[in-house]
Amino acid sequence: ILDKQKMPRDFFWGNSVSSMQTEGAYDIDGKSKSVYDVRPATATSTNWHVAIDEYHRYEEDLDPMQKMHFNMYRIQISWSRVVKDGDGEFNPAGIAFYDRLINAMLARGIQPMVCLYHFDMPLKLAKEDNGFMSRKTVAAFVRYGKAMIDHFADRVKYWIVFNEHNLYFTDEAFNIAGYTKGDKSLDDLYTIFHHTMLCYAQLSAYFHTNYPDVKIGGMIAYTPVYPATSKPNDVFYARKSNEFLNENLNKLYTSGKYSTEVQTYIKNHQVNNDYQDGDEKILAQIHADFLAFSYYRSTTLNADKLSPDCAPNRYLNEGMEVNRFTPKTDWGWDIDPLGFRNIITHLYNCYHLPVFPIENGIGCREEWDGQHPIEDDQRIKYHRDHIRAMKAAMFKDGAQVLGYLGWGLIDIPSSHADVNKRYGAVYVNRTNHDLKDLKRVPKKSFYWFQKVLADNGDLI
Ligand code: BG6
Repeated sequence: ILDKQKMPRDFFWGNSVSSMQTEGAYDIDGKSKSVYDVRPATATSTNWHVAIDEYHRYEEDLDPMQKMHFNMYRIQISWSRVVKDGDGEFNPAGIAFYDRLINAMLARGIQPMVCLYHFDMPLKLAKEDNGFMSRKTVAAFVRYGKAMIDHFADRVKYWIVFNEHNLYFTDEAFNIAGYTKGDKSLDDLYTIFHHTMLCYAQLSAYFHTNYPDVKIGGMIAYTPVYPATSKPNDVFYARKSNEFLNENLNKLYTSGKYSTEVQTYIKNHQVNNDYQDGDEKILAQIHADFLAFSYYRSTTLNADKLSPDCAPNRYLNEGMEVNRFTPKTDWGWDIDPLGFRNIITHLYNCYHLPVFPIENGIGCREEWDGQHPIEDDQRIKYHRDHIRAMKAAMFKDGAQVLGYLGWGLIDIPSSHADVNKRYGAVYVNRTNHDLKDLKRVPKKSFYWFQKVLADNGDLI
């Protein structure tokens, strides 16, 4: 029995990031502009011009990852770095950067996982074509994606198309899809989502047909929605919210069809999501080798707060409630390792595909005193509890899990460009408005990862 409880030898442990949160170098070697490059700093945030300068310091970041026994690093290719304005000429210097980065990973025994889109729409496509509202952007994205797989398939075996793909089914879509014009109607939201699904379907079919040894996965931000009470109304609306936000995507990835409940809503409410003749055929080609997700927290819904005509994918905008039973992070996010186990087990039970949590972590306020390692016990506890929960899903519930990737394990600016919210096991010495020396300094959790992953996580 003990032997059976050992972690698989080929299990992936590692780190996960996006390009704008790491690379910097926003205007060199022929990079064109993305929507991030023009966002100004504010009193509480930085701009995106430097991030942690990984473009130049990737060796400095890969070394501590190797020392922590990581064998996977999930990166994003920046579309605007490798294709001029998203639909122009390919940029050999931009592609050469990813060649260097990927080769340096492989030289350290670190497998790359590549994500093609993590919200950084090329500026021109946002301004001129309204991002993923337009089918022109869909075509440009598919062209870019195919070229990347053609170039990197010999070295990159794990691919993600959209980061947190279900966010395109929430009002976040208007921030992350390059949407610059419109009234943010439900029609527009469902159109953006539908277009991103067409991208996923075409690329997954291309990958699967041409590179059968390469794995491609769907990826969602899995934030489970709990009912605020056991009142049937709360339970019903929480389930419906989960169906729209989470399961609709998993059903699409595994069957090429929208959830019946979502389809029925679209029909009954005459939502115009630009579903055209031929789209059914495109979606039918969908392929997924694994189901990936990010997990930070769970959330809670109070059905009494919902207005009668609230669309199900917007329930959380109106009905979010504080969960009295979970501890919170410095940013008020629920800490819920059992929710993590529940998702892993649920996904495997329902879809029978390997499950891959590729983002997990805790944002904390930390300041280095210039001498001593930061004592981030809260982070150690967070990762330990979540890894234990994952192992329970594997060994007690029978789920197949490919790996566990932490988010931002070398400090990076948070999604709101606030450097004060840190996820790293390694401190990066900068603040929002002072780049200092960008020195990398291991925290206590670095030594913890190093110790527990030396035996493949068996002793956690
Ligand atoms: C994920 C995003 O939602 O969460 C990342 O993919 C983000 O880009 C991460 O950084 C953590 O969120 P935040 O807001 O704490 O940075």
